[in-house]
Amino acid sequence: MTVPTSAAGGQREAWGGVGPAATSSTASTAADVLLSVEGLDVELSGRTGGRVRVLDDVSFRVPRGRVVGIVGESGSGKTMLLRALMGILPEGATREWRQVLLDGRDVTTAMSRERLPAAMVFQDPMTSFNPLVRIGAHLTEVAQRFQRVGRRQATALAREALVAVRIPDPDRVLSRYPHELSGGMRQRAMIAMALLARPELLLADEPTTALDATIQAQILALLRTLQAERSLTVLIVTHDLAVVAAVCDEVLVMKDGRIVESGEVDRVFREPQHAYTRELLDAAPAAPSTGEEKS
Ligand SMILES: Nc1ncnc2c1ncn2[C@@H]1O[C@H](COP(=O)(O)OP(=O)(O)O)[C@@H](O)[C@H]1O
Ligand SMILES: [Mg+2]
Repeated sequence: MTVPTSAAGGQREAWGGVGPAATSSTASTAADVLLSVEGLDVELSGRTGGRVRVLDDVSFRVPRGRVVGIVGESGSGKTMLLRALMGILPEGATREWRQVLLDGRDVTTAMSRERLPAAMVFQDPMTSFNPLVRIGAHLTEVAQRFQRVGRRQATALAREALVAVRIPDPDRVLSRYPHELSGGMRQRAMIAMALLARPELLLADEPTTALDATIQAQILALLRTLQAERSLTVLIVTHDLAVVAAVCDEVLVMKDGRIVESGEVDRVFREPQHAYTRELLDAAPAAPSTGEEKS
Protein backbone atom coordinates (compact mmCIF):
# COMPACT_ATOMS: atom_id res chain seq x y z
CA MET A 1 0.00 0.00 0.00
CA THR A 2 1.24 3.40 -0.79
CA VAL A 3 1.00 6.49 1.25
CA PRO A 4 2.11 9.79 -0.15
CA THR A 5 5.34 10.83 1.45
CA SER A 6 4.68 14.49 0.77
CA ALA A 7 7.99 14.76 -1.03
CA ALA A 8 10.93 16.82 -0.02
CA GLY A 9 9.35 19.85 1.57
CA GLY A 10 8.48 18.09 4.78
CA GLN A 11 5.05 19.48 4.34
CA ARG A 12 2.42 18.38 6.77
CA GLU A 13 -0.22 16.18 5.22
CA ALA A 14 -3.40 18.15 5.24
CA TRP A 15 -5.38 14.94 5.43
CA GLY A 16 -3.79 13.24 8.37
CA GLY A 17 -4.90 9.94 7.05
CA VAL A 18 -3.48 6.50 6.87
CA GLY A 19 -3.81 5.27 3.32
CA PRO A 20 -5.32 8.40 1.83
CA ALA A 21 -7.23 7.74 -1.33
CA ALA A 22 -6.95 10.97 -3.21
CA THR A 23 -3.30 10.88 -4.13
CA SER A 24 -2.76 7.17 -4.27
CA SER A 25 -3.49 5.18 -7.36
CA THR A 26 -3.11 1.65 -6.04
CA ALA A 27 -4.23 1.84 -2.46
CA SER A 28 -7.32 2.54 -0.53
CA THR A 29 -10.19 2.36 -2.84
CA ALA A 30 -13.32 2.89 -0.80
CA ALA A 31 -13.63 -0.85 -0.32
CA ASP A 32 -10.21 -1.05 1.30
CA VAL A 33 -11.06 1.49 3.95
CA LEU A 34 -12.92 0.17 6.95
CA LEU A 35 -13.13 3.43 8.81
CA SER A 36 -12.64 6.98 7.69
CA VAL A 37 -12.95 9.82 10.16
CA GLU A 38 -12.81 13.44 9.14
CA GLY A 39 -12.62 16.46 11.40
CA LEU A 40 -13.13 14.89 14.81
CA ASP A 41 -13.19 17.36 17.71
CA VAL A 42 -13.59 16.38 21.33
CA GLU A 43 -13.96 18.75 24.26
CA LEU A 44 -13.95 17.81 27.91
CA SER A 45 -14.81 19.73 31.02
CA GLY A 46 -11.46 20.84 32.41
CA ARG A 47 -10.50 19.85 35.92
CA THR A 48 -10.46 23.51 36.92
CA GLY A 49 -13.67 24.34 35.06
CA GLY A 50 -14.04 25.52 31.48
CA ARG A 51 -13.72 23.41 28.36
CA VAL A 52 -10.59 21.72 27.12
CA ARG A 53 -10.23 20.63 23.52
CA VAL A 54 -8.46 17.27 23.65
CA LEU A 55 -8.93 16.30 19.99
CA ASP A 56 -8.66 18.98 17.36
CA ASP A 57 -9.68 18.34 13.78
CA VAL A 58 -8.49 14.75 13.75
CA SER A 59 -8.79 13.00 10.39
CA PHE A 60 -7.58 9.54 9.50
CA ARG A 61 -8.41 6.39 7.63
CA VAL A 62 -8.01 2.84 8.75
CA PRO A 63 -7.56 0.43 5.86
CA ARG A 64 -9.21 -2.93 6.26
CA GLY A 65 -7.04 -5.73 7.59
CA ARG A 66 -4.19 -3.53 8.73
CA VAL A 67 -2.63 -2.90 12.10
CA VAL A 68 -2.40 0.82 12.72
CA GLY A 69 -0.44 2.20 15.66
CA ILE A 70 -1.15 5.48 17.43
CA VAL A 71 1.85 7.05 19.13
CA GLY A 72 2.48 10.31 20.92
CA GLU A 73 3.47 11.58 24.31
CA SER A 74 1.31 11.14 27.36
CA GLY A 75 -1.70 13.46 27.26
CA SER A 76 -1.67 13.83 23.47
CA GLY A 77 -5.20 12.42 23.19
CA LYS A 78 -4.62 8.79 22.20
CA THR A 79 -7.01 7.32 24.72
CA MET A 80 -9.64 9.97 24.02
CA LEU A 81 -9.46 9.14 20.33
CA LEU A 82 -10.31 5.48 20.97
CA ARG A 83 -12.94 6.43 23.51
CA ALA A 84 -14.52 8.89 21.08
CA LEU A 85 -14.78 6.11 18.49
CA MET A 86 -16.37 3.76 21.00
CA GLY A 87 -18.69 6.44 22.35
CA ILE A 88 -17.33 6.06 25.88
CA LEU A 89 -16.01 9.53 26.61
CA PRO A 90 -16.04 10.93 30.14
CA GLU A 91 -19.23 12.57 31.29
CA GLY A 92 -19.80 16.06 29.94
CA ALA A 93 -17.63 15.47 26.89
CA THR A 94 -18.74 16.69 23.49
CA ARG A 95 -17.82 15.05 20.23
CA GLU A 96 -18.23 16.45 16.73
CA TRP A 97 -17.09 15.42 13.31
CA ARG A 98 -17.53 16.43 9.74
CA GLN A 99 -17.85 12.94 8.33
CA VAL A 100 -17.49 9.33 9.34
CA LEU A 101 -17.55 6.58 6.76
CA LEU A 102 -17.81 3.00 7.82
CA ASP A 103 -17.34 0.50 5.03
CA GLY A 104 -17.93 3.40 2.70
CA ARG A 105 -21.30 4.08 4.32
CA ASP A 106 -21.90 7.53 5.69
CA VAL A 107 -22.68 7.16 9.38
CA THR A 108 -21.95 10.76 10.22
CA THR A 109 -25.30 11.35 11.82
CA ALA A 110 -25.98 7.84 13.02
CA MET A 111 -22.62 7.45 14.66
CA SER A 112 -23.79 8.24 18.17
CA ARG A 113 -26.35 5.47 18.17
CA GLU A 114 -25.05 3.02 15.66
CA ARG A 115 -21.91 1.78 17.30
CA LEU A 116 -18.87 0.79 15.36
CA PRO A 117 -18.39 -2.95 14.87
CA ALA A 118 -15.56 -2.50 17.31
CA ALA A 119 -14.37 -3.84 20.62
CA MET A 120 -11.77 -2.36 22.90
CA VAL A 121 -8.95 -3.86 24.92
CA PHE A 122 -7.78 -1.68 27.80
CA GLN A 123 -4.37 -1.22 29.36
CA ASP A 124 -5.50 -2.61 32.67
CA PRO A 125 -7.85 -5.57 32.31
CA MET A 126 -9.04 -5.02 35.86
CA THR A 127 -10.94 -1.97 34.61
CA SER A 128 -12.97 -4.15 32.23
CA PHE A 129 -13.60 -7.04 34.59
CA ASN A 130 -15.83 -6.86 37.59
CA PRO A 131 -13.66 -8.35 40.36
CA LEU A 132 -16.66 -10.15 41.83
CA VAL A 133 -17.62 -11.92 38.62
CA ARG A 134 -15.92 -15.02 37.25
CA ILE A 135 -14.21 -14.88 33.84
CA GLY A 136 -16.78 -17.36 32.47
CA ALA A 137 -19.71 -15.13 33.38
CA HIS A 138 -18.03 -12.11 31.79
CA LEU A 139 -17.41 -13.95 28.56
CA THR A 140 -20.77 -15.66 28.27
CA GLU A 141 -22.56 -12.37 28.86
CA VAL A 142 -20.75 -10.80 25.92
CA ALA A 143 -21.41 -13.86 23.75
CA GLN A 144 -25.11 -13.79 24.60
CA ARG A 145 -25.41 -10.10 23.97
CA PHE A 146 -23.45 -9.85 20.73
CA GLN A 147 -24.09 -13.24 19.18
CA ARG A 148 -27.67 -13.67 20.38
CA VAL A 149 -27.23 -17.19 21.62
CA GLY A 150 -28.54 -19.01 24.65
CA ARG A 151 -26.61 -19.71 27.79
CA ARG A 152 -25.29 -23.13 26.88
CA GLN A 153 -24.05 -22.05 23.48
CA ALA A 154 -22.56 -18.90 24.99
CA THR A 155 -20.48 -21.03 27.33
CA ALA A 156 -19.20 -23.06 24.40
CA LEU A 157 -18.32 -19.85 22.54
CA ALA A 158 -16.56 -18.47 25.61
CA ARG A 159 -14.48 -21.61 25.88
CA GLU A 160 -13.69 -21.40 22.16
CA ALA A 161 -12.58 -17.78 22.56
CA LEU A 162 -10.16 -18.74 25.33
CA VAL A 163 -8.72 -21.42 23.06
CA ALA A 164 -8.42 -18.81 20.31
CA VAL A 165 -6.25 -16.64 22.56
CA ARG A 166 -4.09 -19.69 23.33
CA ILE A 167 -5.12 -20.21 26.91
CA PRO A 168 -4.08 -23.80 27.55
CA ASP A 169 -6.68 -24.67 30.22
CA PRO A 170 -9.86 -22.84 29.23
CA ASP A 171 -12.17 -24.66 31.63
CA ARG A 172 -10.08 -23.75 34.61
CA VAL A 173 -9.86 -20.11 33.50
CA LEU A 174 -13.63 -19.88 32.95
CA SER A 175 -14.17 -20.69 36.61
CA ARG A 176 -11.62 -18.17 37.90
CA TYR A 177 -12.12 -14.66 39.23
CA PRO A 178 -10.13 -11.95 37.40
CA HIS A 179 -7.64 -11.43 40.23
CA GLU A 180 -6.81 -15.13 40.27
CA LEU A 181 -5.19 -14.91 36.85
CA SER A 182 -1.71 -13.68 36.05
CA GLY A 183 -1.45 -10.36 34.23
CA GLY A 184 -0.76 -12.03 30.92
CA MET A 185 -3.62 -14.53 31.29
CA ARG A 186 -5.97 -11.74 32.30
CA GLN A 187 -5.03 -9.75 29.21
CA ARG A 188 -5.63 -12.84 27.06
CA ALA A 189 -9.02 -13.29 28.69
CA MET A 190 -9.86 -9.67 27.93
CA ILE A 191 -8.88 -10.13 24.31
CA ALA A 192 -11.11 -13.23 24.26
CA MET A 193 -13.96 -11.13 25.63
CA ALA A 194 -13.38 -8.54 22.91
CA LEU A 195 -13.43 -11.26 20.24
CA LEU A 196 -16.79 -12.51 21.49
CA ALA A 197 -18.29 -9.20 20.41
CA ARG A 198 -17.34 -10.24 16.85
CA PRO A 199 -15.61 -6.97 16.06
CA GLU A 200 -14.26 -6.04 12.67
CA LEU A 201 -12.18 -3.38 14.32
CA LEU A 202 -10.20 -4.11 17.46
CA LEU A 203 -9.14 -1.07 19.46
CA ALA A 204 -6.34 -1.65 21.95
CA ASP A 205 -5.18 1.01 24.39
CA GLU A 206 -1.65 0.26 25.56
CA PRO A 207 -2.59 -3.39 25.92
CA THR A 208 0.84 -4.51 27.07
CA THR A 209 2.14 -1.57 29.05
CA ALA A 210 1.35 -3.17 32.40
CA LEU A 211 3.08 -6.44 31.51
CA ASP A 212 6.71 -7.49 31.72
CA ALA A 213 8.75 -7.75 28.56
CA THR A 214 8.40 -11.46 27.79
CA ILE A 215 4.65 -11.50 28.32
CA GLN A 216 4.35 -8.25 26.39
CA ALA A 217 5.98 -9.85 23.36
CA GLN A 218 3.65 -12.85 23.61
CA ILE A 219 0.53 -10.70 23.75
CA LEU A 220 1.69 -8.62 20.79
CA ALA A 221 2.40 -11.75 18.79
CA LEU A 222 -1.07 -13.01 19.72
CA LEU A 223 -2.70 -9.80 18.49
CA ARG A 224 -0.83 -10.09 15.23
CA THR A 225 -1.87 -13.73 14.84
CA LEU A 226 -5.52 -13.01 15.62
CA GLN A 227 -5.49 -10.15 13.17
CA ALA A 228 -4.39 -12.52 10.42
CA GLU A 229 -6.62 -15.43 11.43
CA ARG A 230 -9.76 -13.32 11.71
CA SER A 231 -9.03 -10.60 9.16
CA LEU A 232 -9.33 -8.06 11.92
CA THR A 233 -8.44 -4.45 11.55
CA VAL A 234 -6.51 -3.25 14.58
CA LEU A 235 -5.95 0.21 15.99
CA ILE A 236 -3.38 0.01 18.75
CA VAL A 237 -2.27 2.81 21.06
CA THR A 238 1.22 2.61 22.45
CA HIS A 239 3.92 4.95 23.66
CA ASP A 240 6.50 2.36 22.68
CA LEU A 241 7.94 2.78 19.19
CA ALA A 242 9.44 -0.70 19.36
CA VAL A 243 5.89 -2.04 19.56
CA VAL A 244 4.98 -0.07 16.46
CA ALA A 245 8.03 -1.44 14.66
CA ALA A 246 7.18 -4.98 15.72
CA VAL A 247 3.48 -5.18 15.00
CA CYS A 248 2.13 -2.23 13.04
CA ASP A 249 1.79 -1.67 9.33
CA GLU A 250 0.97 2.00 9.60
CA VAL A 251 1.26 4.66 12.26
CA LEU A 252 -0.47 7.86 13.32
CA VAL A 253 1.64 10.31 15.31
CA MET A 254 -0.31 12.50 17.72
CA LYS A 255 0.66 15.67 19.49
CA ASP A 256 -1.59 17.97 21.50
CA GLY A 257 -4.79 16.44 20.20
CA ARG A 258 -3.80 16.51 16.55
CA ILE A 259 -2.38 14.02 14.10
CA VAL A 260 0.90 15.51 12.92
CA GLU A 261 2.08 12.66 10.72
CA SER A 262 0.86 9.36 9.39
CA GLY A 263 1.85 6.65 6.98
CA GLU A 264 3.55 3.32 6.53
CA VAL A 265 5.71 2.46 9.54
CA ASP A 266 8.76 1.80 7.36
CA ARG A 267 8.44 5.16 5.67
CA VAL A 268 7.69 7.16 8.80
CA PHE A 269 10.58 5.63 10.73
CA ARG A 270 12.98 5.95 7.84
CA GLU A 271 12.00 9.43 6.72
CA PRO A 272 10.00 11.19 9.39
CA GLN A 273 8.50 14.34 7.88
CA HIS A 274 7.52 16.11 11.06
CA ALA A 275 9.94 17.47 13.65
CA TYR A 276 7.92 15.91 16.44
CA THR A 277 8.17 12.45 14.89
CA ARG A 278 11.94 12.88 14.65
CA GLU A 279 12.00 13.87 18.31
CA LEU A 280 10.06 10.76 19.27
CA LEU A 281 12.39 8.54 17.26
CA ASP A 282 15.47 10.20 18.73
CA ALA A 283 14.10 9.75 22.23
CA ALA A 284 13.40 6.04 21.78
CA PRO A 285 15.75 3.91 23.90
CA ALA A 286 17.11 1.96 20.95
CA ALA A 287 16.44 3.09 17.43
CA PRO A 288 13.56 0.81 16.55
CA SER A 289 14.05 -1.06 13.33
CA THR A 290 11.12 -2.58 11.56
CA GLY A 291 11.02 -6.27 11.10
CA GLU A 292 12.56 -7.56 14.28
CA GLU A 293 10.34 -9.65 16.52
CA LYS A 294 7.68 -9.47 13.90
CA SER A 295 6.65 -13.09 14.20
N1 LIG B 1 -11.65 12.72 32.62
C1 LIG B 1 -10.96 13.76 32.13
N2 LIG B 1 -11.37 15.03 32.35
C2 LIG B 1 -10.69 16.08 31.86
N3 LIG B 1 -9.57 15.98 31.12
C3 LIG B 1 -9.11 14.76 30.87
C4 LIG B 1 -9.77 13.56 31.35
N4 LIG B 1 -9.07 12.49 30.93
C5 LIG B 1 -8.04 12.96 30.21
N5 LIG B 1 -8.06 14.31 30.16
C6 LIG B 1 -7.11 15.19 29.42
O1 LIG B 1 -7.30 14.92 28.04
C7 LIG B 1 -6.05 14.99 27.35
C8 LIG B 1 -5.84 13.73 26.55
O2 LIG B 1 -5.76 12.63 27.43
P1 LIG B 1 -5.56 11.15 26.94
O3 LIG B 1 -6.35 10.90 25.73
O4 LIG B 1 -5.82 10.28 28.12
O5 LIG B 1 -4.00 11.13 26.57
P2 LIG B 1 -3.06 9.90 26.20
O6 LIG B 1 -3.89 8.66 26.17
O7 LIG B 1 -2.45 10.27 24.90
O8 LIG B 1 -2.02 9.86 27.27
C9 LIG B 1 -5.00 15.23 28.43
O9 LIG B 1 -4.68 16.58 28.42
C10 LIG B 1 -5.69 14.83 29.70
O10 LIG B 1 -5.18 15.57 30.78
MG1 LIG C 1 -3.83 6.93 27.29
